[in-house]
Amino acid sequence: MRILSGVQPSGKLHIGNYFGAIRQFVELQHKGSGLYFIADLHALTTIRDPDKMRSLSRDVALDFLALGLDPDKATLFKQSDVPEVSELSWILSTVTPMGLLERAHSYKDKVAHGISPDHGLFAYPVLMAADILIYRSDVVPVGKDQKQHLEITRDIAVKFNQTYCKGFDPATGKGGVLTLPDPMIMEDSAVVPGVDGQKMSKSYGNTIDLFAPDKETQKKIMSVKTDSTPVEAPKDPDKCNVFALLKHFASPQELAAIREQYVKGGVGYGEFKKKLVEFFMRQFGEARKKRLELEKNTDYVDDVLRKGAERARKIASEVMDDVRRVTGLR
Ligand code: ADP
Ligand code: TRP
Repeated sequence: MRILSGVQPSGKLHIGNYFGAIRQFVELQHKGSGLYFIADLHALTTIRDPDKMRSLSRDVALDFLALGLDPDKATLFKQSDVPEVSELSWILSTVTPMGLLERAHSYKDKVAHGISPDHGLFAYPVLMAADILIYRSDVVPVGKDQKQHLEITRDIAVKFNQTYCKGFDPATGKGGVLTLPDPMIMEDSAVVPGVDGQKMSKSYGNTIDLFAPDKETQKKIMSVKTDSTPVEAPKDPDKCNVFALLKHFASPQELAAIREQYVKGGVGYGEFKKKLVEFFMRQFGEARKKRLELEKNTDYVDDVLRKGAERARKIASEVMDDVRRVTGLR
């Protein structure tokens, strides 16, 4: 089973990203042959600063390696290191109906928010289809927001196969050159709240980042918003942001004990926040150490990405041979 997913290099990772997405990616590397790429070509639709592009792309690689992606098990690479993807993207665009792209929610949302769309934004789902189809991916784990992009990918694959492969049966997906992928929509793990109690998100500036310096992390956690219940009074854990965050880190036994302290009273929010700092460090301490080491070892990271790209290109060029043959380009 080939598992593939891409991550845009769009900023620093926070614990919402980890519990909502990255943790699943890292676990999936044991379930099949995983291909994970840094979607830098997609990110060009929003990042126009070359230094930022370089550093954010590198950050994704460091983050994934630090969080346990094993480059001997899974293939980690940069999207732009496989130029065949752009070629396939063009070929697919010639069988993609305009209406299919005009209906894309993410495109429509951005336009509705006043972003003046360029062709890259409009064609975004076609490039994404190329990413997926060029490796004959079986399973594509993504968040809910990407579900429609996967449906578009399947539609494009069907269209291509119907156009160029005589024996193709759309009902079974058999007999085509391009494999129809199955989406794996990642379970909505409980939404991780930010320090202000809203959903944690880069866009809200309320994140607890995975790899910020210790002092900053501590300060962030100590700043989580709580109500003004005095130390001695009983507190409602189910209305507390600190408790909502603790849930992601604590074992069931630890959580039960903390719940009791809330209900009994006598322990202040500051103490619970300190516990959260402790649990955060317990969970991410090793990854944080590893990331600092990786930052110093840029040759190693470059080497992982180079080898990853080599492996990915080998698969991509096999598929492209078939695509060029059936389209008459070769
Ligand atoms: P952000 O909102 O910070 O820009 P993204 O939209 O880039 O984050 O999300 C990347 C992934 O992380 C998505 O799969 C999303 O489901 C997950 N994710 C982001 N924020 C949270 C959160 N607060 N709780 C749970 N999962 C989250
Ligand atoms: N569009 C995805 C996102 O913003 C990233 C992505 C690009 C992707 N190509 C992909 C995800 C292929 C899965 C498969 O999150």
